[in-house]
Amino acid sequence: MPVAHHIVIVGGCGHVGLPLGIVLATRTSARIDLLDVDPNKVDQVNSGKMPFREAGAEKVLPQVIGKSLRATLDTAVLNTADVVITVIGTPVDEHLNPTVTELYRNIDRLLEQMKTDSLLILRSTVYPGVTNLVYNRVRTRGRKIHVAFCPERIAEGKALEELVALPQIIAAFEPEALKRARELFLLVTDTVVELAPMEAELAKLFTNSWRYLNFAISNQFYMLAQSCGLDFTRIHDAVVREYPRMKSFAKAGFAAGPCLLKDTLQLAAFSGNQFFMGHAAMLINEGLPNFIVGQLRNTNLSDRCVAILGMAFKAESDDSRESLSYKLKKLLQVEAREVVCCDPYVPDASLIPVEEAISRADTIIIGVPHSVYRDLEIPETKTVVDIWGSRDSGRLAPVAAIRSSEESRA
Ligand SMILES: NC(=O)c1ccc[n+]([C@@H]2O[C@H](COP(=O)([O-])OP(=O)(O)OC[C@H]3O[C@@H](n4cnc5c(N)ncnc54)[C@H](O)[C@@H]3O)[C@@H](O)[C@H]2O)c1
Repeated sequence: MPVAHHIVIVGGCGHVGLPLGIVLATRTSARIDLLDVDPNKVDQVNSGKMPFREAGAEKVLPQVIGKSLRATLDTAVLNTADVVITVIGTPVDEHLNPTVTELYRNIDRLLEQMKTDSLLILRSTVYPGVTNLVYNRVRTRGRKIHVAFCPERIAEGKALEELVALPQIIAAFEPEALKRARELFLLVTDTVVELAPMEAELAKLFTNSWRYLNFAISNQFYMLAQSCGLDFTRIHDAVVREYPRMKSFAKAGFAAGPCLLKDTLQLAAFSGNQFFMGHAAMLINEGLPNFIVGQLRNTNLSDRCVAILGMAFKAESDDSRESLSYKLKKLLQVEAREVVCCDPYVPDASLIPVEEAISRADTIIIGVPHSVYRDLEIPETKTVVDIWGSRDSGRLAPVAAIRSSEESRA
């Protein structure tokens, strides 16, 4: 008997829901409905077009859409689903506290329509304890619906590759829910790891916070080195070269996007604001644009046109959610004569072509290291700020050459 006949993914046309839907369509015999509230995305997905960049998905989506997979605005699909996966999470509010309002509203609507004995899977990152709250909510409404928490851990842009390669963490309060979640995800990946629900919630938050803290260490070191006129990239390159213990030493760069800061703040709230490393990481990562502007103040900023190359929150992406390039733009607009921005992927009518940006600007900042920027011709008369060390000019000479130049100075 198949694990599921009919799966509905709520928020199914977004960055988490759509890749999962595509993978499930290629690996199961179930009918899969991508339920969403955005009619444009629903139309686009049904016509076989990806609403965002995701490696490999452009090719696979047309092969499965209209067959076992389809997108819909119609919540009636919930009536017949035996598995409902929701990506609605717990965002942070204006006080930097997680809010469960939208999640509760969504769960209540789902419970009204889901059938008895179906399985509800929470897929988004949630505040610790939320799975328990949802489980209790189901029971107090007298519904016999199984609840599991199976967090998404892919990196945006690599979803199709990672969904089938990464172990899937699964958690539930009852054996039946755990069994059904296990059977479903074993169709997607070879390994599932079982945890208690709050362990799984923390596992996901630790994953994102760990990355955010790591980037903060590098960004702090970047600011230390640059403040005394040294090139962080050269030092970083020397530190990691043929030295396996430092493999996880990240390069400097904007740590942004919809998840890392939000999830660090969830842990901060959970710890009763005692997560000092998390708050320190936030000050460092969010302060990097201010640091760059501070350094440029010595260069007659008020007379200069500054170009920002890359407005997405990370390389090769078209996703500009919580991008620090936009924060940098705002800061520069107060201080520079003019600010121009470009990005080959981000849909934003205010952006201009990169060639025009380079020709107009006196100062060029690499906001995000899209690979198309790596070998761009930039005249030597222009100042280039490349926090990422992504361009050839930022690379280090061979270690031996450095050693001999240091020796000759000694
Ligand atoms: N993007 C990632 O790589 C990633 C990874 C792990 C976890 N998450 C978490 O997953 C959650 C979703 O992130 P995302 O990047 O997919 O967001 P997204 O904005 O790309 O997708 C969310 C989708 O849900 C739809 N939607 C919103 N409210 C809805 C509702 N009530 N009913 C049906 N559809 C609705 C939106 O139209 C959108 O298409 C977030 O909480 C995020 O923290 C994201």
